Amino acid sequence: MTMDALLALDQGTSSSRAMVFGRDGRLLATAQRELTQHFPQPGWVEHDAEEIWTGQLECAREALAKAGVKVAAIGITNQRETTVLWDRRTGRPLHRALVWQDRRTAPLCEQMRRQGLEPMIRARTGLLLDPYFSATKLRWLLDEVPGARERAARGELAFGTVDSWLLWRLTEGKVHATDASNASRTLLFDIHRGDWSDELLRAFNVPRSLLPEVRPSAGVFGQAAEFGVPIAGIAGDQQAALFGQAALQPGQAKNTYGTGCFLLMHTGAQAHMSTQGLVTTRAAQVDAAAQYALEGSVFVGGAVVQWLRDGLKAIGGSGEVQALAESVTDAGGIMFVPAFAGLGAPYWRPDARGALLGLTRGTTQAHIARAALESIAFQSAALLTAMNADLGADSRLAELRVDGGASANDLLMQFQADLLGIPVLRPKVIETTALGAALLAGIGSGVYASPEEVGGIWQLDRAFEPRMSRDEAGARLAQWDRAVRQVLAE
Ligand code: G3P
Repeated sequence: MTMDALLALDQGTSSSRAMVFGRDGRLLATAQRELTQHFPQPGWVEHDAEEIWTGQLECAREALAKAGVKVAAIGITNQRETTVLWDRRTGRPLHRALVWQDRRTAPLCEQMRRQGLEPMIRARTGLLLDPYFSATKLRWLLDEVPGARERAARGELAFGTVDSWLLWRLTEGKVHATDASNASRTLLFDIHRGDWSDELLRAFNVPRSLLPEVRPSAGVFGQAAEFGVPIAGIAGDQQAALFGQAALQPGQAKNTYGTGCFLLMHTGAQAHMSTQGLVTTRAAQVDAAAQYALEGSVFVGGAVVQWLRDGLKAIGGSGEVQALAESVTDAGGIMFVPAFAGLGAPYWRPDARGALLGLTRGTTQAHIARAALESIAFQSAALLTAMNADLGADSRLAELRVDGGASANDLLMQFQADLLGIPVLRPKVIETTALGAALLAGIGSGVYASPEEVGGIWQLDRAFEPRMSRDEAGARLAQWDRAVRQVLAE
């Protein structure tokens, strides 16, 4: 029995998970539930917020029972931007949650762009006017759910990203809050001033009464009624992963291979504004001092493997993809651009759709599986190219830390290092998102004295050194660029 263990709730796009970590960062127990994806129309993606809550709660109970230890605190980390609107009195959601991948508000973004609002929005938020982020989703809910706007005006409703929703339910409706890393993904938060912006609220026609209070990522948010311990850390999953990778200094970067792929570089107290299609966002912060990161977001990463399983039925389970891809020596000239949900950074084209190029009579499922895996690395390489262009020749990234489910795939990690031409470092704990949330909760509850103390927990599992010649890598990247250009020209 130790009181220094920590429980992380990692509510991701594809699944809800709960993990118990020891004080030394060792994973003691884990529980997982897959989350139902709803696709009511092409380009629309929804989750049932009640299923998110009940699945997450069951996972927490199961992980705690398996670990057999008492925990000192709970950390929450979550799929970001996904938008929940609920009734403050009953705690019931008014509609299914609109998921970050949902493209339904692309016309609204276009209309606001034509009104000339994007430069102001970009300057305040560090983001772009894209359906990816929460504000247009919230506006859609207010406009389309009968009675929502009137009820919002009466102060009866609450908006939250998934962290706020879980916090509200865990505290039985007592706490309506979020952290700066999640707030910075909504398009309503001024990342420089560190507060919701009235100008943005007006632009998106969102009443302030809906919004949660914004706090640092570490600190006691409230008491989890059922578990009798505080929720002492909250961060969006990508910022939590950056923290869990001990990438706490300016210039340190990580790429997470989850449903999507997200490359973040810490920029310290400086908000670096990109000229290359990346976004500026708040990193997790342990106190009131703002921390920033530069981010490239790819919408379909590991989700391509899910599609091979559920859409194409080429594999029975995600674990089979490496064997299938390795059964051929290359992708047979196939390029797979998985723009299922449009293309994110650095292209930002919500209207783009996926393509398989270069099919021949000799193409097999194995070639497609290999091309699918390669697409994850190609998209991440495009992010690194953009980041390096932003940073300038003197501060190019020298190595990349990786994590998330698909980082366990050696074939993919080797190909990633080959394309990037820098070492790819995989830590022992690849569930870095959950680890980051646990560490933040550990700092927030006093288990750790400082962020420096948690930095020592990071341990290398394997370094993938680039083996491909730079000429060949250049030729492969040029092939990818051609494929993307074809998709964008559609
Ligand atoms: O911005 C979306 C991101 O937070 C989703 O992460 O791990 O569910 O792909 P993941």
